[in-house]
Amino acid sequence: MTKSFQWADYVRPHLRGLQGYVPGEQPQGGKFIKLNTNENPYAPSSLALAAIKESGERLRKYPDPTATAFRQVAGQVLGVSPDQIVCGNGSDEVLAMVVRLCLGPEDLAAWASPTYLLYETLIRLQGARWQTFRYRPDWSLPEELFRANAKLTLIANPNSPSGTCFDLPQLRRIIERIPGPVLIDEAYADFAGQSAASLVRDYPNLMVSRTLSKSYALAGLRFGYLVAQEELIRHLHNIRDSYNCDALSIAVATAAMSDQAWLRDNLRRVIEQRQVLERGLAELGFSVQPSQANFVWCRHPGGQAQSIYMALKSRQILVRYMNYGPDAEGLRITVGTPTQNQVLLEQLHQIVKSIP
Ligand SMILES: Cc1ncc(COP(=O)(O)O)c(C=O)c1O
Repeated sequence: MTKSFQWADYVRPHLRGLQGYVPGEQPQGGKFIKLNTNENPYAPSSLALAAIKESGERLRKYPDPTATAFRQVAGQVLGVSPDQIVCGNGSDEVLAMVVRLCLGPEDLAAWASPTYLLYETLIRLQGARWQTFRYRPDWSLPEELFRANAKLTLIANPNSPSGTCFDLPQLRRIIERIPGPVLIDEAYADFAGQSAASLVRDYPNLMVSRTLSKSYALAGLRFGYLVAQEELIRHLHNIRDSYNCDALSIAVATAAMSDQAWLRDNLRRVIEQRQVLERGLAELGFSVQPSQANFVWCRHPGGQAQSIYMALKSRQILVRYMNYGPDAEGLRITVGTPTQNQVLLEQLHQIVKSIP
């Protein structure tokens, strides 16, 4: 009898047992108030929406492989050269490109935890090694991270789930203490009103990843980019897919990025509501980590994070329950519109009343 064919015999051994990254739920039905994946609650810039309508002719041809128009606008906004930027299909792809470029089997990556869970998946895919070190209770970096001697150190700034953020002088000190490549993941940095992008001039080992998913309200578009010195950017262009960003996303991202007035207005609204949410949660007895992002990390003294999450879900409100171990279990709640936040707080009020 011939042996039956099994893909497991052909899939590379280190990928056979891999569990892919599980993003937050994206319900396809129902009328959920969706505060679980840090999307922006407002519509994108009208310039971005107009660019979609005008993009018909663009779709006939292949896109600009390096997204020149976007890099020019982003370079002006961030005060860097367009040659210091490479674009990707969301910042997730940009992170994957860096991992693919820098880490071979057995090479070490390091980060402080808890943080963005995708890092581990990307390192596993590559067959590389990783070490994580617990953030200190005040969310400062653990000393061990500086001694890890990793080939890639990842720091989400602001961090998720904490929403905490190192300012630029702190970041300079951090980068100066890490001898190898350091990637600062700035998915939420606009909400903190800062960017380390211009520091790439001073630090050849620095990379800064950014996205249009959060502050530009374009999570569905999938557009992100990385800022670093030209030498690294050239390497990344060599290893990325030839058309990794489609014509529509380049046009929309460029229009969105050129509408800085929309961004300022949006940030003002989200930050105002972040304060409403922080205050409201504290009044309900949650311990709330002051946030510099578009979400709030909170924990209830009753330690009932999972049952609160379930109770909210049964009331059509989705937040993110996260369990990073006994001392780090909590809820990460995206800042919504004033109405969404009000409904959330009212429902939470009902739910926590019933907690002993
Ligand atoms: C810390 C962090 N980095 C990166 C990303 C990915 O963003 P993108 O939509 O650009 O892939 C996320 C998304 O939630 C995130 O939380």
